Amino acid sequence: MYKSILEDLVCPKCKSGLSLEILEQEQDEIIEGKLICKDNHTWIIKDGVINFESQEQEIVNNWSEHYKNINYDELDKMVKEATPDNQLEGYNISKQVLLEKIKCKHAKNIIDIGTGRGMLLTYIAKNITDEISLVCVDLSYEVLKYDRLKVKKINPKIKVNYIACDAARLPFKENSFDLSVSFFGIINMGEIAKKGVEEAVRVSKEGLINAVMVIKDDNPKVETINKYLQDDGIDGKIDNIIETNCFKLHQVDGKYNVTKELTYESVALPSKYDYVPIEGEWFGINVYDCKEN
Ligand SMILES: C[S@@+](CC[C@H](N)C(=O)[O-])C[C@H]1O[C@@H](n2cnc3c(N)ncnc32)[C@H](O)[C@@H]1O
Repeated sequence: MYKSILEDLVCPKCKSGLSLEILEQEQDEIIEGKLICKDNHTWIIKDGVINFESQEQEIVNNWSEHYKNINYDELDKMVKEATPDNQLEGYNISKQVLLEKIKCKHAKNIIDIGTGRGMLLTYIAKNITDEISLVCVDLSYEVLKYDRLKVKKINPKIKVNYIACDAARLPFKENSFDLSVSFFGIINMGEIAKKGVEEAVRVSKEGLINAVMVIKDDNPKVETINKYLQDDGIDGKIDNIIETNCFKLHQVDGKYNVTKELTYESVALPSKYDYVPIEGEWFGINVYDCKEN
């Protein structure tokens, strides 16, 4: 972490400011230390990551379970090889669109919500030329720890703060950032995705730009996939990614102005790991731009 983030960061329990105790530092980045609030809530900084003790999702995205069996780079490779070509093409195009929007809005101070294995983060790190500072948040401390090491190799100059926390309760003051972005992160919050949109808009002056894979309103396989998810013990349905629902989700009961851009569309090919997109059915990748009315 970098000290400058302390201006905007608050204790996730009591929302008061935090003071820093440094145990290990590499140039201006704090690698080990503690953050303590006035009520004595104490949080550890380890491996350069602030750990606000959020719990990983239990079934999908439980990264520390994955990394017991396979290392970060191998998992990346395995997932990439198993992802159909049209999906990868869609990801690449939507990452380009997100980066263009970041540039158009002249955003220099950005929060990436649900950073996960860092597809968007690494794309930004490779392609950004201007000075920007990034904050990456995810429930998983473990995945952020490896993201940090990967980004160091790609672009050692870029300043990134990594924070393990719940995006439904972002530990930041209002308008701490220029822009919030998310690449399939917020939509993965399941039942609390709406809260994720609200929090993302709250903390950024320019609101949120959010990439989501969507399906048609009349997709005939929604119920079947919801049943598979339930059978797998996954707490959540795919209803939020149905196009009309997804637009409404971003409006948050009419609170926000929303525009959407369809960046990619195709028909889903068979996939080894993913239920969505749904094999044989249309899918699109929409980028939603949400701002306070
Ligand atoms: C599909 S991945 C996101 C992909 C990622 N944005 C990328 O660019 O590679 C979804 C991520 O959202 C995170 N997530 C889910 N619920 C969350 C929450 N409430 N707060 C923060 N992160 C969350 C998961 O831990 C997971 O890493």
